[in-house]
Amino acid sequence: MRDAYIVTSVRTPGCRRGKGAFKDTRPEDLLTHIMNAAVEKTSNLEKGNVDDIMIGCSFPEAEQGLNIGRLANQIAGFPISVSGATVNRFCSSGLEAISLAALRVMAGWSDITIGGGVESMTFVPMGGNLPRPHPEHARVQADLYASMGITAENVANRYDVSREDQDEFAYQSHMKAVNAQKEGLFTEIVPTPAAKYVLQENGTYQKETFLQDFDDGVRPTTTVEGLAKLRPVFAANGSVTAGNSSQTTDGAAAAVIMSEDMVTKLGVKPIAKLKCYTTVGCEPDEMGVGPAVAIPKVLELAGLSTQDIGLWEINEAFASQALYSVRKIGIEDQMDNININGGAIALGHPLGCTGAKLCATLLANMQRFGVKYGVESMCIGGGMGAAAVFELCD
Ligand SMILES: CC(C)(COP(=O)(O)OP(=O)(O)OC[C@H]1O[C@@H](n2cnc3c(N)ncnc32)[C@H](O)[C@@H]1OP(=O)(O)O)[C@@H](O)C(=O)NCCC(=O)NCCS
Repeated sequence: MRDAYIVTSVRTPGCRRGKGAFKDTRPEDLLTHIMNAAVEKTSNLEKGNVDDIMIGCSFPEAEQGLNIGRLANQIAGFPISVSGATVNRFCSSGLEAISLAALRVMAGWSDITIGGGVESMTFVPMGGNLPRPHPEHARVQADLYASMGITAENVANRYDVSREDQDEFAYQSHMKAVNAQKEGLFTEIVPTPAAKYVLQENGTYQKETFLQDFDDGVRPTTTVEGLAKLRPVFAANGSVTAGNSSQTTDGAAAAVIMSEDMVTKLGVKPIAKLKCYTTVGCEPDEMGVGPAVAIPKVLELAGLSTQDIGLWEINEAFASQALYSVRKIGIEDQMDNININGGAIALGHPLGCTGAKLCATLLANMQRFGVKYGVESMCIGGGMGAAAVFELCD
């Protein structure tokens, strides 16, 4: 198989569901903006040279429904000939989309593709607008439809992840993000137009836009004591709170992928190769253990060990499952290399976008530190894990 090179990987800021900067911005507009930005940042790339666009979305309905992978490419001004699809593997959708786009290149079926993700959790709530579990199967395997928060409680209880450890992990997520914002380390963010509706003197509302250039869920005032005071949200005597859960967020991200021939032809400097990607199933009622099973599998595929990995992006769906996964894989001694700019507890988890968002963050950090191998991983609702290995180009 050929190699697939990621030549550009960018994201919008992540903004709080219903309260943040993107609460009035349609998902197509977030996605359109970031796809255009990805093309503009890639030297000599013409939109018409892109063969196909794969876009992850966890709840592809209403404003982000129909086929947003195709609709957004047309809104963004790609020629009619550029096809587009929507990909759903819940929380790994964005990474799945990048992998599918990369596989097209690896198979020799395409020379240039885009993979990305989008989720407006403001416009389409988690679970969708009209969830309709299968009536008979839901009685047989109710856990398949379990609340994600309950699965996080199960992981905490079964694997002894204490409330104190979860809160400490959440605190560190915010502090790392605060520091990264202060130091200007989120170089993968593209300032993004956000809509707002302003009341006019005549009583009507006019749409205006402003530029949003930072993740607005980060809380610099977070303290361990403050986190300890929050009440559990999913179980009466539980340990999972609003403070140690990922935030619900709006955002989009996109990556441009090319074959070696095209890299040479366009004179582009690639960032990294997608070396391996895998997924694996686990019990739905403890879906948070996903990274603990997906990471060993992807490392074996890649012929690498945990010691070869210089940077990790392990999605913080919940502190309980992220911490459990880190412990289970045996990388607790590498905490300084895990989610170095903070994770979804501070920066948000825009479901279908997250896989592409974490790719942009990981690649930016791998470039900054000259790290050869980086791993991205996440748990997935319904009981799965996904993981990918990226290899930095010289
Ligand atoms: C847990 C959850 C229900 C909380 O929702 P929410 O109430 O809208 O959460 P918020 O972020 O608005 O926080 C609520 C309150 O908790 C407190 N809080 C949250 N984070 C805090 C922190 N770091 N420090 C102190 N207080 C904090 C604040 O009082 C906050 O209210 P405010 O925003 O008015 O200040 C929601 O974030 C959630 O469902 N997360 C998980 C998402 C998920 O399952 N994703 C898929 C994973 S597989």
